Amino acid sequence: MKVTAICALAALSLAAARVQLEGDISAPKTWTLQTASPESNDETTVYFFLRHKTGSEEQLEQILLDVSDPRSSRYGQHLSNEALRDLMTSPEASDTVTSWLSSHNVTQEAIKPTLVGDLLQVKLSVAQAETMFSTTLSRYSRTVNDQSQDVLRATSYSIPDEIADAVSLVGDLIHFPAEPRLPIQSYSLGRRLLGGGGKGKWENSCTGSSGSKCKGLVEPGVLKTRYKLPDSPTVASNSSVAVAEFQGQYYKDSDISKFSTACGVEVKVSRNQGKNEDSAGIESELDIEFIGAVSHPIPLTVWYQSEYSLLSWIQSVGSNASPDLIHSVSYGNDEVQQTSTKYMEQVNTQFQMIGAKGISVLFASGDQGVWGRSGRFGGKFHPDFPGASPYITAVGGTDFSTYDIGDETTWASGGGGFSDTFPRPSWQEDAVKGYLSSKDANLPESSYYNASGRGYPDVAALGGQKTPYCVATGGGFEGVAGTSASCPVVAGVFALLNNERLTAGKSPLGFLNPFIYQNAAAFNDVTSGTNNAGFGAGFTAIKGWDAATGMGTPNYEALAAAVKSLP
Ligand SMILES: *[C@@H]1O[C@H](CO)[C@@H](O)[C@H](O)[C@H]1NC(C)=O
Ligand SMILES: *[C@@H]1O[C@H](CO)[C@@H](O)[C@H](O)[C@H]1NC(C)=O
Ligand SMILES: *[C@@H]1O[C@H](CO)[C@@H](O)[C@H](O)[C@H]1NC(C)=O
Repeated sequence: MKVTAICALAALSLAAARVQLEGDISAPKTWTLQTASPESNDETTVYFFLRHKTGSEEQLEQILLDVSDPRSSRYGQHLSNEALRDLMTSPEASDTVTSWLSSHNVTQEAIKPTLVGDLLQVKLSVAQAETMFSTTLSRYSRTVNDQSQDVLRATSYSIPDEIADAVSLVGDLIHFPAEPRLPIQSYSLGRRLLGGGGKGKWENSCTGSSGSKCKGLVEPGVLKTRYKLPDSPTVASNSSVAVAEFQGQYYKDSDISKFSTACGVEVKVSRNQGKNEDSAGIESELDIEFIGAVSHPIPLTVWYQSEYSLLSWIQSVGSNASPDLIHSVSYGNDEVQQTSTKYMEQVNTQFQMIGAKGISVLFASGDQGVWGRSGRFGGKFHPDFPGASPYITAVGGTDFSTYDIGDETTWASGGGGFSDTFPRPSWQEDAVKGYLSSKDANLPESSYYNASGRGYPDVAALGGQKTPYCVATGGGFEGVAGTSASCPVVAGVFALLNNERLTAGKSPLGFLNPFIYQNAAAFNDVTSGTNNAGFGAGFTAIKGWDAATGMGTPNYEALAAAVKSLP
């Protein structure tokens, strides 16, 4: 009798112990706390990152390198979801978490695991979440592009000891949606555009009265000439390409067909993944029109998330049995703006799994040069996440050197630099060392950055403000700039390259960086300009790789030849 009582007491005190997985945060300044408390039955979505099998994360790292390195005997031998599940997912962790969820009356329908099974998307009521995580949820709001958005978030959370061995992190409880990486719209340029065109001296290949608005701007014909793009290829059965869009950034068929007609390219969205919201946005229309123009006629999917959440995108890719092979994502903010290193590491593991499956992911590198969204404070540059993640391909921005189609120079506001969190990966060792030891680099004061971190971007494409992109949006045309333009262009190029491989019955390219760094000669090297965003120090583009434009911009003919010679 007495023994039982002591045991019960011990169990009680054990049950009461809690573990905090990440530190307390304060809500980002861009979000306003609403005074009214949420209702207890309001819903929020969180993500359980299950603890992986011991040693599996290290194994995954090696596997990703092997299957992505053209010089490895395992090149192209991508893993299935089942193989990754066997490698990574602990059935015990999964059982512990699911039974804990059901003890809190979370239904099966509310739980959506990825196919690998190590990440669970879970819908919870406010009352459930507050009890489970011993926290308080509040409503926060912000306005982006005249659209008001609100989210339910906490500023700290903990989990009970009983599940601490099973959970690495709970996502989107204290992780606020990032700032949208919206393209830069030059309104003065918009007016000048209407008044008679941009500044580029090339012949406008967009025609008719609508097409004339693209005069002097970057339109599909300019990219085709500069990057030596092919005429519409025959599409292999598995070819596919996707753009991620978030929160209210959707598109109107009328804008897309206006662009297609004016510029003589048949851009078509083949499929939509996620809910179709009837709100067109310049970001999504830029993405769709240019990735579609470059990769035509490869089937294009818009991969839509209703919240500006990276985890929601990861979850939707991870729960799809045959996700598109190339993904362009214009999303990111600074490493210092993330809730924890642990969060970035967990996201990185998901990127590694996506890459190991043979899927290529490209992120825009940012539009504030070396300074990031945090700006010029603290005597430090602010590397971007996921831009500086070692497990994705980061795309920076360029401008033409003159007002003609030809050599490119660094776009001063294109994101680039070195991660403060992740060390330099092996595939860029030589390239980055070469940069850091070059007399031409004129490197910034060493206190501004960590030279042993992962260097980014990996590649670049036109994105600057000198001759913006011509985008059909809102029934008219706009001049638009930013690495959100560069990223879909490079993604479109890699979709074409994948198509070459699939046509030849070979594997898709998957994680691209080992291939990119082994084929420097297949890129147009950019050797001038500094990405200081107009203030003080930055990284200067030189011969070879640099932290302003990476390897440079695509030369499709050379890349296609390189890709054809791969096993
Ligand atoms: C779960 O539901 C049962 C039945 O409605 C209720 O008795 C119990 O208190 C609930 N538990 C929690 C943790 O909400
Ligand atoms: C193409 O897709 C089919 C069906 O999804 C799959 O069985 C096949 O392995 C794929 N081929 C390549 C080269 O990826
Ligand atoms: C620099 O980066 C490396 C690799 O990521 C890391 O180990 C080291 O602690 C960093 N140094 C500083 C001063 O932050």
